Amino acid sequence: MATVTKLSGFLHLLLFLPFHLLIDSASAAYPIGVNYGTVANNLPPPQQVAKFLKTQTSINSVKIFDANPDILRAFANTNISVTVTVGNGDIPALAKLPAAQSWIANNILPHQPQTIIRYIVLGNEIMATSDKALIAHLLPAMKTLKYALDQAKLTHIQVSTPNSLGILSTSEPPSNGRFRKGYDKAVFAKILDFHRQTKSPFMVNPYPYFGFVPQTLNYALFKSNGGVFDAATGMNYTNMFDAQLDAVYSAMKKLGYEDVDIVVGETGWPSAGDPNQPDSNLLNAQSYNGKLVQHVSSGKGTPLMPNRTFETYIFALFNENLKPSISEQNFGLFKPDFSPVYSVDVLNLKPASGPTTTPGSSPPALAPDRPAPGPVRPAPGPARPAPGPGSVTGRWCVPKAGTSNAALQANIDYVCGTGLDCKPIQQGGSCFDPNDVRSHAAYAMDAFYQANGHHDYNCDFNKTGLIVHSDPSTFST
Ligand SMILES: *[C@@H]1O[C@H](CO)[C@@H](O)[C@H](O)[C@H]1NC(C)=O
Ligand SMILES: *[C@@H]1O[C@H](CO)[C@@H](O)[C@H](O)[C@H]1NC(C)=O
Ligand SMILES: *[C@@H]1O[C@H](CO)[C@@H](O)[C@H](O)[C@H]1NC(C)=O
Ligand SMILES: *[C@@H]1O[C@H](CO)[C@@H](O)[C@H](O)[C@H]1NC(C)=O
Repeated sequence: MATVTKLSGFLHLLLFLPFHLLIDSASAAYPIGVNYGTVANNLPPPQQVAKFLKTQTSINSVKIFDANPDILRAFANTNISVTVTVGNGDIPALAKLPAAQSWIANNILPHQPQTIIRYIVLGNEIMATSDKALIAHLLPAMKTLKYALDQAKLTHIQVSTPNSLGILSTSEPPSNGRFRKGYDKAVFAKILDFHRQTKSPFMVNPYPYFGFVPQTLNYALFKSNGGVFDAATGMNYTNMFDAQLDAVYSAMKKLGYEDVDIVVGETGWPSAGDPNQPDSNLLNAQSYNGKLVQHVSSGKGTPLMPNRTFETYIFALFNENLKPSISEQNFGLFKPDFSPVYSVDVLNLKPASGPTTTPGSSPPALAPDRPAPGPVRPAPGPARPAPGPGSVTGRWCVPKAGTSNAALQANIDYVCGTGLDCKPIQQGGSCFDPNDVRSHAAYAMDAFYQANGHHDYNCDFNKTGLIVHSDPSTFST
C-alpha cells in the first residue's frame, strides 16, 4: 500500500513540475500508445492533436477507429505511428483482392511514406457481434489485405483484429483460459496461424474495469491486495490485468500458438460514471492508468509471460461527449482543450521547444463548433463487460416481440453451431415441446446468454434479443 500511496503522490506532483525536471522517456521501447476516438463534437482539429502529442507527450503511437484522411494527414512527418481500423461493414468486401487493393489505394497509399502506419486492424471486436457473415469473412479479409499490402510494397504494415475478452469461455484461474467452444479450432487457431506466418500480433482488449466486483477492486486497480493463486501453475496474481492476459495466453497455448505476440488494443478506466458507479472516479482512473503505464513499461511481463513487454493502447486520448453513457464519455486522459483529466506518467510532458506553457493552463486556440472528423459512428471502445467475476444472476435472454421466424431460426442455428448442447430442443428432448420456432429460439438464446457469462452482447443476436429480469416462463413476448 505504501508504494501505491507514494506513486499517486508522484503522479500528482507531475502536474506541477516544470517541464525540464521531467524525464523524457520517449524511445523506441516506450510501449504506451493511445486510442484516439472521435465520438465527440468538441474535439480539436487533428493537426493540433498531432502537434500536442508530438511536442507535449511521450506518446508515439495512436490507434484510430477508422481511416480518417484528416487524421492520417495530420500525423504526417511526426514520427508518431498510426494504427488504422477497417470498419466492420467493410470487412466482407475486403475478402476479395480487387476491393482490398482499392481500399489500400484509397486509404493508405495517399499517406505513404509520410505517415507511419503501424497496423491495419479489421473491425472492432467482431466476435462479440455474433454476426456470422462478419466472422466468416474476417480471416479471409485479413489475408487478402495482407497480400495486397505486400503487393503494394507495404510489407512493414501488419494486419490484426481487436478482440474483447468475450472470446474466452473461461478466464479464471488464468491457466484455465480457453477460447469459446466452436470458435477455438474453427476460428482462433486459423487467425493465430495467420499471425504466426505474418509475424503480426494477436490483439486483445482486456478491461479489469468490466471484470471487478467490490471485493476485487484493489486487484483490478493494481493496488495492494491478497492476490489470486493459480494452483495449476503455482503462480500468484497480484493484478487482474496480468490475470486477463495470462488467460488469453493459456487459451493460445492450448491451441499451440503461445509464441504469437500479444498487443493490448484497448484498456482503461473511466474518471466519472453514473451515481450507481462509484468506482468510476478520478482517483481510480488515475491509479489504474498510472500503474498500468508503470507496469507495462517495467518489462516485467506477466507470471506466464515473464520479461515480455506488451505494446498497450490506453483507451482513450480524449473524453468523448457523444458516447452513450457518463462512464463511456469519461475514459479520456485529456479534455478537449488538452488539459489533463488527471496526471499520469503517460503525459510525461517533454521539454517543449516552443513557449513554456503547460497544456492545461494555456489551451491552444480551438474551433469549438467544429464537428469531430468523420461521421458519428456507433461508439467504439468499451461498451460491454469482459468475462470476470462480475456476472449477474436473475437475468434471462428472450427473443424480442415481433422477431421474424427466419431470424429466430438463424439464432437457433447460430447458438447450436457454437457447440452448445441443443439436444433439449431436438425431437425427444426435454424442451422440444412446445414445438415452435419461438420457444426453441427462447431456449437457445437464453442458454447461450447463461453459458457465456450474462454479458449484454451475448443477448444481442443482431438486435433480436432482450434481457429480462423475471423468469421468462412467466414472461410473454
Ligand atoms: C522515430 O521514432 C522511433 C521510435 O518510435 C525512434 O527510434 C526514432 O529515433 C524516431 N526518429 C526520429 C527522427 O525522431
Ligand atoms: C442482421 O440484421 C441485418 C439487418 O436486419 C441483416 O442485414 C443481417 O444479415 C443480419 N445479420 C445476421 C448475422 O443475421
Ligand atoms: C500472493 O501474493 C499476495 C500479495 O503479495 C500475498 O499476500 C499472498 O500471501 C501470496 N500468496 C501465495 C500463495 O503466495
Ligand atoms: C527475466 O529477466 C530476469 C532478470 O533479467 C532473469 O533473471 C530471468 O531469467 C528472465 N526470465 C526469463 C524467463 O527469461
